[in-house]
Amino acid sequence: MAKNLTGFGMMINKLKQNPKRIVFTEGSDERILEAASRLLASNFLVPVLVGNADEIQKASEEYGYNIRGAEIIDPENFDRMDEMADLFCELRKSKGVTKEEALKTLSQANYFGTMLVKMGIADSLLGGATYSTADTVRPALQLIKTKPGKKAVCSCFILVRPAASGENEVLAMGDCAIIIKPTVEELAETAVSTAECGRVFGIDPRVAFLSYSTHGSGKGEDVDKMREAAALAKQMDPNLPISGELQFDAAVAPRVARTKCPGDPVAGRANVFIFPDINAGNIGYKIAQRLGNFDAYGPILLGLNAPINDLSRGCNAEEVYSMAIITAALVDD
Ligand SMILES: CC(C)(COP(=O)(O)OP(=O)(O)OC[C@H]1O[C@@H](n2cnc3c(N)ncnc32)[C@H](O)[C@@H]1OP(=O)(O)O)[C@@H](O)C(=O)NCCC(=O)NCCS
Repeated sequence: MAKNLTGFGMMINKLKQNPKRIVFTEGSDERILEAASRLLASNFLVPVLVGNADEIQKASEEYGYNIRGAEIIDPENFDRMDEMADLFCELRKSKGVTKEEALKTLSQANYFGTMLVKMGIADSLLGGATYSTADTVRPALQLIKTKPGKKAVCSCFILVRPAASGENEVLAMGDCAIIIKPTVEELAETAVSTAECGRVFGIDPRVAFLSYSTHGSGKGEDVDKMREAAALAKQMDPNLPISGELQFDAAVAPRVARTKCPGDPVAGRANVFIFPDINAGNIGYKIAQRLGNFDAYGPILLGLNAPINDLSRGCNAEEVYSMAIITAALVDD
């Protein structure tokens, strides 16, 4: 599936030159073990599986996956647990976390795995095969935190529709998974970060801030919000083609764009879509995926100090494999 993804081959080449270590918080899950065995066979990513070594070995034998070369780390007998707990207390000192509380929290694979990244034992993390999005993302927000210059972590999906001509259609959509009710500033930052991420996948970004209104055709607070966010995003990145607020048809259909907003440089040809909130975003990308035959990759978290991504609980091994490569390739060298 991921072979259709522009930039995927380049990501693999990047990893071949500089292999990375990626934590899987659900080390004994069958899909994780299948993806780990495929990654190990290709030799450019070292899976770090969190869990009990005997259980993981037993599961891999039972399912028939060779995971020789993977590192298995068990929170129950991790030799640097004391150091990890001290660092955790330091990172959470504003919350007055005690060492006892830290040790209890770190017995959970999602927090433990995130701390492995924080301590530099691994470069990146992929979780969520069994954890909810919130339980995968919260430790990252609390411990890995936002990159300098970014106010909030947001996310995007990359959508790819294979074309017979070989010229795949590639779009980016944000934020469909993290910020529930974004502010104007968060919307503007999401647009800039989503466009940046889109470039990695070969998109030459043209950003539409979506609404039920096109340049004032409809009225309302949410319309004003998207217009203000578009204006702020233009200030943040003056070279990025941005327009808004736009209805979806005006954003993508040249004929509608000519009628509703002639002369708009983005309308009719937008390829980066910014949704007003998570309801619209989550529903929107799933419509593209389920009715529009787009393959969806994500959510890709944007603005974190290290790449940490969330799987859907309904994911399959192929999706784990692709997301692991995307996640590890986003590590800053
Ligand atoms: C991301 C999410 C889990 C955070 O929720 P939460 O943990 O309840 O949020 P809280 O407000 O308690 O914040 C927890 C911590 O994360 C920080 N945080 C929350 N959202 C953040 C963001 N977008 N960027 C950076 N930090 C953030 C908070 O400041 C807080 O830090 P602190 O503990 O150091 O004070 C929440 O926004 C969410 O549930 N989003 C939707 C997830 C979802 O269901 N997606 C659909 C499926 S893909």
